[in-house]
Amino acid sequence: MVICFIGIGSNLGNREKNIEKAIAKLRKIKNIKIEKVSRLYRTRPEGYIRQNDFLNGAIRLQTNLEAGELLTHLKKIEKDLGRYETFRFGPRIIDLDILIYGNQRIKTKDLAIPHPRMYARDFVLTPLADVAPELFKHKIIRTISAMRAFIKLLRAENKTIGFVPTMGYLHQGHLSLVRAAKKDCDKVVVSIFVNPAQFGSKEDFRRYPRDLKRDEKLLKQIGVDAIFYPGVKAVYPKGYLTYVSVEKITERLCGKYRPGHFRGVATIVTKLFNIVQPDTAYFGQKDFQQARVIEKIISDLNIPLKVKVVPIVREPDGLAMSSRNVYLSPQERKDAVVLYRSLRNAEASVKRGERVVKVIIRNITKEIKKIAYARIDYVEMADTETLEKVDKINGEVVIALAVWFGKTRLIDNILVMAKPNCRLARLRSGGQAGIKW
Ligand code: PAJ
Repeated sequence: MVICFIGIGSNLGNREKNIEKAIAKLRKIKNIKIEKVSRLYRTRPEGYIRQNDFLNGAIRLQTNLEAGELLTHLKKIEKDLGRYETFRFGPRIIDLDILIYGNQRIKTKDLAIPHPRMYARDFVLTPLADVAPELFKHKIIRTISAMRAFIKLLRAENKTIGFVPTMGYLHQGHLSLVRAAKKDCDKVVVSIFVNPAQFGSKEDFRRYPRDLKRDEKLLKQIGVDAIFYPGVKAVYPKGYLTYVSVEKITERLCGKYRPGHFRGVATIVTKLFNIVQPDTAYFGQKDFQQARVIEKIISDLNIPLKVKVVPIVREPDGLAMSSRNVYLSPQERKDAVVLYRSLRNAEASVKRGERVVKVIIRNITKEIKKIAYARIDYVEMADTETLEKVDKINGEVVIALAVWFGKTRLIDNILVMAKPNCRLARLRSGGQAGIKW
């Protein structure tokens, strides 16, 4: 018998009744034993919002049916209850999905298990936690030797390991990395370590926000396998002397303003890779330069792992999520929206045909300077590989910036893609276009 979890939902007609009927039909199937049904949760529809709220639940069952056979039964129940084909995210009388089937990973034309979007959906995870508490349990591991022992166990079971390094005080940006790791890997390890080596002597190491209880609660909602939470002395014992230093790409953008920062990042990340030895490590595009530095370390030092870079998660008003946003005063928080707005305007101007880097940068700077007290470290357009400043747009470039709001330094970036537009460039530079055909 295999333990299996099914997601169930409805937002048409009598939702409770539909769900009850579907469960009654499931109970009647030979070879299925329902062990537990979650509470039903009311959730807002996603994708297409002009429809009723859904009721969502989860079912825990045991079965000796194959996953494909189980799917056929679920489809039949949906049909018997009157479900008709609708558009993606459209309303439905009943929805039955296999979320998890034992510890199998299945990917066929008709079936993907674990359900590929389940970790991105709280309306799936919340009821699932009712019926599968064991999936939401994690260990807190505080020593390097215990971390190694845990990894050894996972390796013995042939599990793939996803790793998300963080400095804690987690937000939805961090959690999007965890969700991506959950989707790809059997087991997920998150590290929380405020790394003194990457803070300058005048920077905010001491006041950096820390709250393990809060972080644990957030991670529990998605379900991770281990939180690696080492102490500073374990990571940098007395007499520690070895640092990893990446050249050139660390000297640009933030590197100019935070000497030593990337040496600290490169060192801790290399150490963590050696301890956790993951298959895949996840980083955010929010720290674009950091992600590039890490990719370089992995290829230069032949570290056997894959890196995935996950898009920036933003607050509803556009501000990139950051643990440091809690430092902002209400006024600074409001004003900080200018960063993303100016980047979006720049992107729009490129889409309209603007190709003169100076003009694009000048416009961003002008907009930020409307906030009189904001202090710009840099606004630059750079090559996405070398991070060198570009003076013309050809292909993909990153527009990156770092700006102080009071005592808080915020960074943000956007990727823009464009081919050089010679006519425009020539006109703007008075016929002296740098671009030659
Ligand atoms: P931290 O700032 O805690 O960020 C951890 C990871 O979360 C990084 O990969 C970062 O890019 C990503 N992240 C942060 N905000 C994000 C957002 N709004 N959207 C998407 N991803 C986001 O970066 C560090 O810690 C440290 O330098 C570390 C790599 C852990 C080394 O100490």
